[in-house]
Amino acid sequence: MPLNTRILAVDVNEIGNFSLSKSNSFLDPWVLEPSSSPSAYNLLEAAVSLQSSLYPVAFPTETVYGLGANALSSRAVKGIYEAKQRPADNPLIVHVASLEQLRRLLSPGKDEPDPIPQVYLPLIKRFWPGPISILLPNPDGSRLAPEVTAGQPTFAARMPSNKLALALIQLSGLPLAAPSANASTRPSPTAAQHVAHDLEGRIEIILDGGPCDVGVESTVVDGLSNPPCILRPGGIGIEEIRKCRGWEGVVIAYKDGKLGEMEVEMKPRAPGMKYKHYSPTAKVVLVDSHTPQTKVQDQVHQAVNTGTRSIGVLRTKSWDPIPGKMVTDRTDMLKAFGLEPQTNGYEDPVSLESKHIKGHLGGRDYEIWDVSIGPSIVEVARGLFSALRELDLRGVETIFVEGIDDQGEAAAAVMNRLSKAASEWVGA
Ligand code: TXA
Ligand code: MG
Repeated sequence: MPLNTRILAVDVNEIGNFSLSKSNSFLDPWVLEPSSSPSAYNLLEAAVSLQSSLYPVAFPTETVYGLGANALSSRAVKGIYEAKQRPADNPLIVHVASLEQLRRLLSPGKDEPDPIPQVYLPLIKRFWPGPISILLPNPDGSRLAPEVTAGQPTFAARMPSNKLALALIQLSGLPLAAPSANASTRPSPTAAQHVAHDLEGRIEIILDGGPCDVGVESTVVDGLSNPPCILRPGGIGIEEIRKCRGWEGVVIAYKDGKLGEMEVEMKPRAPGMKYKHYSPTAKVVLVDSHTPQTKVQDQVHQAVNTGTRSIGVLRTKSWDPIPGKMVTDRTDMLKAFGLEPQTNGYEDPVSLESKHIKGHLGGRDYEIWDVSIGPSIVEVARGLFSALRELDLRGVETIFVEGIDDQGEAAAAVMNRLSKAASEWVGA
């Protein structure tokens, strides 16, 4: 029997008063006094559901939407794997709302009064709360459900910076195991509607806190190995990590399709990285960033000539709009994508230049969705998964994506996700 899935709206500004300690940091103990607003009510309902229900709850983080469950309960964590159809050997990240809560999951070492390994302190100080996950030793007699670690001797943890996520963890009083809230292999969800599309009928509650700010998942790092390494590129770039004491020599330990120079040959250490991932139904063709625009247009024409009726072009930094008669202006474009212009201070997920082109060639109708998600890497990261999903919904058969060659910020994460979604590459 499918479940009744409800999307509950939460305006983070209405949920109540966050009282931080003198340090004014979420790292130190803090409390939330919920208000009596509908938003606070919805949040409390989700928190109670996490304490008692069989089903996980979807909630926004600053990276992507997560599918959370009590990390201390096997039954609850199994519900995540079931809802997502996730392979059982792919471990989950534990989300905490304070360092106190993290310490309770670790045992103090003999000589160390603080059970959090020293190597992580510079990262925590600089990036938490925020989009970086760290690998920690799972102690003997661990309180975590074994399904969280899926057989690894370590567990991954992060403190999200999204206030709604922090409030949910705090109000439930539980560390939350949470993978991205997509069905396994699909692009990660960056809006509540994406979660509903994948998990409708499989979960009871989706908290809607608007689109995600970062748009790609957290960086996963292992500081327990020597040298420390990056297991998954994400919201925090390697250059930023290198600036931290003890992390100057951090190495890359993930494989990245064609990004030859950046990768080292080794078996993926984050089990999740070996699976097919981030894939829309449409064929994704990743085009090298230095490829001249004419070559891209040739490809598009060739696709039309060989019978592809619906094509997506995702532009990032430098491609010009695809020439063609524009039949849809920007407002209509947003509507076509099922979106309203944002009024809540968030950027619109498709840019001003986006358009829908219709044409007729060799007796056939075709259409091109020409969508700009750039030019800045922050915008590209934020809009990427959403654009892939939206083009899929429009029945697009082939998506040409303009690759990026930036260093820094989330660029490596964007190219990593694209290389996993792509089935073809076009080089300069
Ligand atoms: O931004 C994020 O990290 C999002 C939001 C919801 O917080 N979560 C997320 O979770 O992306 P998920 O499950 O989609 O990806 C977790 C990644 C996987 O590649 C998994 O293999 C790796 O982290 N991982 C988790 N625990 C691990 C462990 N103990 N050792 C190695 N890799 C681990
Ligand atoms: Mg995921």
